[in-house]
Amino acid sequence: AALAQHKTGDIVDVLGPLGSGFIIPSRAKRVYVVAGGVGVAPLVFLVSDLHRKHIDLAGYQVFIGGRTQEDLLCSNEFTDLGVAVLTTTDDGSAGDHCLVTHPLDKALDRTLADVIVACGPMNMLACVAGIAEKYKVACQVSIETMMACGMGACLGCAVSSRTETQHYLHACMDGPVFPAEVLKF
Ligand code: FES
Repeated sequence: AALAQHKTGDIVDVLGPLGSGFIIPSRAKRVYVVAGGVGVAPLVFLVSDLHRKHIDLAGYQVFIGGRTQEDLLCSNEFTDLGVAVLTTTDDGSAGDHCLVTHPLDKALDRTLADVIVACGPMNMLACVAGIAEKYKVACQVSIETMMACGMGACLGCAVSSRTETQHYLHACMDGPVFPAEVLKF
């Protein structure tokens, strides 16, 4: 709301960029992009950025899930870039009547991806991570946590880690994008 009150030309203080983003290896041709609800936002940014860099998006497939039709956001942003989109809703009001992870699982069963990228609710990400592990496909997830400082001071964004060296990782500095296998969901 505070940002929305600003007009073009207003000056705001911005600190960033902070943390890490998605990294799509140049050899990755088949990429499955999985979004849940408002988690679609950074994925629009990612795919638009790749498009701007003239990366071939022919092998990209976007899966967008939401509770209802109103929760399916930004599919036009992807189709405008020529990227195939498959939608699902929990209540069947639009797209396939299932969780977004179902068509992902089916797609991987048909054709393995080089990498999966995902953003959405934690339980969706946990499911995506499990599917990626099942098919042994590299997976990056962007998580949302409570963040107060954004620079490693408040420790409010700690998440459990599966790595041997650290019990906790910090979404603000180590993430918010993580290889799925380092997180304990
Ligand atoms: Fe403060 Fe991450 S937001 S440590």
